[in-house]
Amino acid sequence: LRIAVLASGRGSNLAALIAARDAGKLPVEFVLVGSDKASAGALRLAEEAGIPTLALNPKSYPDRTAFDRELFARIAASGAELLVLAGFMRVIDGAVVAGWEGRAINIHPSLLPRYPGLHTHRRCLEAGDAEHGASVHYVTAELDGGPVVAQARIPVGANDTETSLAERLLAEEHKLLPAVVGAIASGRLRWNGEAVFDGRPVT
Ligand code: GRF
Repeated sequence: LRIAVLASGRGSNLAALIAARDAGKLPVEFVLVGSDKASAGALRLAEEAGIPTLALNPKSYPDRTAFDRELFARIAASGAELLVLAGFMRVIDGAVVAGWEGRAINIHPSLLPRYPGLHTHRRCLEAGDAEHGASVHYVTAELDGGPVVAQARIPVGANDTETSLAERLLAEEHKLLPAVVGAIASGRLRWNGEAVFDGRPVT
């Protein structure tokens, strides 16, 4: 399975995918790692792993949609069969995303549908939730709104902070995302107008 990954930051989720592939657990080929930040650590990781990289500067484009169109044209040109958003911090134009329905997933650090958007750990703490978690979902035009195909859960402790939650959750994300990509690579998880996991529709 040929995958392209988009990341805006350090790329720890990308690193987890590469490690799973190197351990022979993930039958994937990385065809591109793209970013909206030329300084993103994810691009350095990709270079070290010999993966083609692409950094597009949003400031070089007249508007957001022009940036998104160029980025997705380059992803298509890479031959990617699956797009993985892993710490990509931009909202993508709905029409551009629509072209990748069923072929793009995102990992989000909350138990969707709780806390779409930003600052999820803080919102979880402020709400006094007993548990927190991460979700992998298919990307649709609705921000963090597509069908959730898998989640990881962690308990929230009385002494937890945003930082301690984020760290504990990241360790779970690094297992969850490779597991979902593996399910897609093996055909267990697929899209035929809706997400189907082991033969059962996922809403
Ligand atoms: C992670 O919390 C992930 O859930 C979110 O971005 C954060 C950083 O990811 N999407 P990474 O370390 O850059 O992979």
